[in-house]
Amino acid sequence: MSGDPTPADASRPVPASIDARRAPVLTLDGPTASGKGTIAQRVARSLGWHYLDSGALYRLTALAALRAGVSLDDPERLAQVAATLPVGFEADGRIRLGGEDVTDAIRDEAVGNGASRLAVHAGVRAALLGLQRGFRRPPGLVADGRDMGTVVFPDASLKVFLTASAASRADRRHKQLIEKGISAKLPGLLQDLRERDARDASRSVAPLAPAEGAYVLDSTSLTVDETVAKVLDRWSAQG
Ligand code: DC
Repeated sequence: MSGDPTPADASRPVPASIDARRAPVLTLDGPTASGKGTIAQRVARSLGWHYLDSGALYRLTALAALRAGVSLDDPERLAQVAATLPVGFEADGRIRLGGEDVTDAIRDEAVGNGASRLAVHAGVRAALLGLQRGFRRPPGLVADGRDMGTVVFPDASLKVFLTASAASRADRRHKQLIEKGISAKLPGLLQDLRERDARDASRSVAPLAPAEGAYVLDSTSLTVDETVAKVLDRWSAQG
């Protein structure tokens, strides 16, 4: 396959063949704005593996629900939305919802907050489970999220928990938004991030926490290159 991290090309899980179920998985979990997405994509590219951005599925569910006027506190209807998401992941990394390119729309802070709110519902999580597992296929998968190592791929070959101080994560998010021309205030971002951390870590279903045996990597004072190198070193060291 090409060196690009390709989100699985099917938008729905394929019936898992024995081969697909045996494909190795490297999970990268961690809090909001810890840089998981960037690191996971770089690691996937280096290994020539597929890449799953599980947060995108929660964001897509939030966007679809918001557009359909479904309350973020209505677990049953939200689970229905999640179970019937007309999602498409393109080989070039673009994400579609019912044919519309929503790659940028799902990155909106309001959609991210909505995703964090609906992610507390067990029915929503269950509805997205098969979809996420369908991304596992040879030669391997790098999956990023909150519960990749704990719930979705408990048999992953390497589980990484990527973290960084709240201040440095807020700072990184601030720079990203400014670069995109979106105005944002650091104190507000920091507060949102703390609230999301608290909600993601305290929910009763699949709370954000390092998986047993996870490699906990604090990237506060590391560059992206250094962080990627540490994950790849750890992978090589495992043989
Ligand atoms: O990684 P992200 O910021 O795109 O995720 C958005 C929200 O989705 C996050 O606040 C919590 C939820 N989420 C989750 O509960 N489990 C995952 N595996 C990924 C994301």
